[in-house]
Amino acid sequence: MEKIHNLPRLFDFEAMAQKTGNGNGFTGQDILSVSQFDRERLSYIFTRSHEMRELVERVGACDLLKGYVLACLFYEPSTRTSASFIAAMERLGGSVIPITQGVQFSSVSKGESLPDTIRTLEQYADVIVLRHPEVGSAKLAADYASVPVINAGDGAGEHPTQALLDLFTIQVELGRIDGLKIAMVGDLRYGRTVHSLTRLLMRYEDISLRFVSPDTLRLPMALMNELLDQGIKVRETHDVADVIENADVLYVTRIQKERFSDPKQYEEVRDCYEITPDLMTRAKEKMVVMHPLPRVGEIHYHVDDDPRAAYFRQVKNGMYVRMALLAAVLGRA
Ligand code: NCD
Repeated sequence: MEKIHNLPRLFDFEAMAQKTGNGNGFTGQDILSVSQFDRERLSYIFTRSHEMRELVERVGACDLLKGYVLACLFYEPSTRTSASFIAAMERLGGSVIPITQGVQFSSVSKGESLPDTIRTLEQYADVIVLRHPEVGSAKLAADYASVPVINAGDGAGEHPTQALLDLFTIQVELGRIDGLKIAMVGDLRYGRTVHSLTRLLMRYEDISLRFVSPDTLRLPMALMNELLDQGIKVRETHDVADVIENADVLYVTRIQKERFSDPKQYEEVRDCYEITPDLMTRAKEKMVVMHPLPRVGEIHYHVDDDPRAAYFRQVKNGMYVRMALLAAVLGRA
C-alpha cells in the first residue's frame, strides 16, 4: 500500500527520491510480511545493511534521519528487537518514542483499542514499529496508519525483520545462501521467526531444509505444503543428531511457552533440545549455529566460545538491517 505521510521537509525529497531510485520501492511502505521481499529487494536491503555496518564501524553515527521520529510500540516483551530499532534510529540521527517498557504504562491499560493507539502515535511519528500478540495485528495497524508500520512480531504469525537479519547473517557468515542445508530446531509450530525465515529461504536455489521438533511442535501444515509445492527438499525428525553432521546452518529456537494454552503440554517439551560442545564435535568445521534469542537452555553456554556460534554476531547484524530498513521506508536509503 502506498502511503502519503507528513515527512519533515528538511530536505528536497523529490530530488532525493529521483537520486536514490525511490529506495527500491520501499519509500512509505509498510513492512508486514516476508512475502514483500523478492531476491532483488533482499539484495538491495543487504547492500544497504553492509553500508550501515561500515558507517557504524567507521564513525558510529550520522544524521541521515535527523528530524524523523520512530514510535516503538510493544505489547509483548522484547530486548533485542526493541533495542536494535532504537539503536538503529539513533545511530541514523533520528529520535524515538519508546513504548516498550510494557503498554501497562500507556492508555492501552485503560482499554484503548489498537487502531486508536496507532492513530494517536502517527500524529507524532513518521514510522511505527509494532509488536503484538495477535496474528494479523500489524496488518490491522497498517490499515489505520498513514505512516509506515513495521511488523516486529505478530503473535505466532511473522517476524519479517528478524528473518531479514537471519538471512543477512547467513550470507555474511557463509558467503552464500543458495545450495545450503539448513536445520531448524525447536518450536517450529509457534516460532514466528522460523515461519518468516522458512518463507524467505524459498526464494533461493537448491536449499535443503531439515526440521527438528517434538511431534506437537511441528512446522504448520500450510507452510510445509508451500515448501513441498515449490519442490524444496524437506525432512522432519525429532533428533538433532540426525541433522548435525550435514547442516551448514543450525537455527535453534526457544519453546514459545507463552503460546501454549495448556501448561502441561509445555512441561512435556520444555527441555527437549540442548546443543552442547559434545554435539558440536560432530558438526562441520564451516557451519554456523544461530538463534533469534532469548535462549532458555537450548544452547549450552560453553558453545558460546565456539567460533561457529554466530548468535551474538546475529544480534549486531539486526541493528544494521534495521538501519537499512528505516532509511528505506523513510525514503532516505
Ligand atoms: C524472537 C521473537 O520474539 O519472536 N525473539 C526476537 O525477536 N529476537 C524469538 C523468541 O522470543 O523466542
